[in-house]
Amino acid sequence: MIDIRSDTVTRPSAAMREAIANAEVGDDYLDGDPTTRRLEERVADLLGKEKGLFFPSGTMANQTAIWALSEPGTEIYADLNSHIVDWEMVAAAMISGVQVRTVQGEGPMMDAVALERTFRPPSPSAPQASLVCLENTHNGAGGLVTPLAGIKAMHDVARAKGCAVLLDGARLWNASAATGTSLRDFARYADMVMVSFSKGLGAPAGAALVGDEELVDRANGHRKRLGGVMRQSGILSAGALYGLERNLGRLSEDHVKAARFAEIVDHAIAATVVPPETNIVMIDLAPGLSAHDVARRAREDGVLVGAWTPSRVRAVLHLDANAGDVERAGEVVLSALDESWRALGDTSEWPAMRN
Ligand SMILES: Cc1ncc(COP(=O)(O)O)c(C=O)c1O
Repeated sequence: MIDIRSDTVTRPSAAMREAIANAEVGDDYLDGDPTTRRLEERVADLLGKEKGLFFPSGTMANQTAIWALSEPGTEIYADLNSHIVDWEMVAAAMISGVQVRTVQGEGPMMDAVALERTFRPPSPSAPQASLVCLENTHNGAGGLVTPLAGIKAMHDVARAKGCAVLLDGARLWNASAATGTSLRDFARYADMVMVSFSKGLGAPAGAALVGDEELVDRANGHRKRLGGVMRQSGILSAGALYGLERNLGRLSEDHVKAARFAEIVDHAIAATVVPPETNIVMIDLAPGLSAHDVARRAREDGVLVGAWTPSRVRAVLHLDANAGDVERAGEVVLSALDESWRALGDTSEWPAMRN
């Protein structure tokens, strides 16, 4: 099976496992795990912030940051299709007592104009906002990058309205690799940044939050409240450190693979591919086609892709899919798309959608 449902499916390589096996560990709650300390310092340094904090998952890190940065009884703003809105189970309302107000940009992602429009006039009886959540790259939009100017513009709007800024940078590594903008430059426009180790970097688990010392200390208390303190966490941090040392520099290879996969699949009769900017490829299906049906057909031929929505298929390229896998996966998904289309019978008007 070639599994390109997500970049989270990668398995730790033999060398990463060796780094994990040899990790120096300690009780992270009592004394601080030495490997986790190293990772936290490394990540804070990479992102130009005072302090870092290790988490078991990006979701827990996002929710901890929302808790630390927002005010109960206010709104937080996030892109309509952001991870915080789509995949975190209403956690912000349950944990932080905030209402998430979604922002819809003119294009596929939230932008400064749309954000500014979302703010309500001051009123004693209308909810006020305390936090703006950004996401870069944007998973739901197909791994698209918001360039630095866009991030800065949204940050400036948030600040002018007295809001804090959280950057969900689960794949900020990819945004940086694709644009050449440094991680530090992106991070400058957020109070806290979340980064993930279990995606393109290939580690088995883990994420981090970075920010000012006072904020990270507050987040540390919330992490404890959520049960996120881990003991010999160096076992996981060692995989993350290995990923940073060895896999950060190769992310643009995944972007090349995504472009090649997209090029093959774009020949489909009744589907259009969102041109990839990083490692994610979204395939939008013509009316009547089903993403589940396409994914099922591809699976029968040995390729796993995701049904992102009923009409959108997602593929994510990663370090465990080599160039040969990309060719084969592209051909299989292309056939699955065309077979799915042929199976529908009357198809006379569909090729028009390619315009
Ligand atoms: C943009 C984004 N944010 C947050 C997360 C959550 O990370 P985790 O799966 O580690 O909870 C993901 C996971 O796919 C993501 O894509």
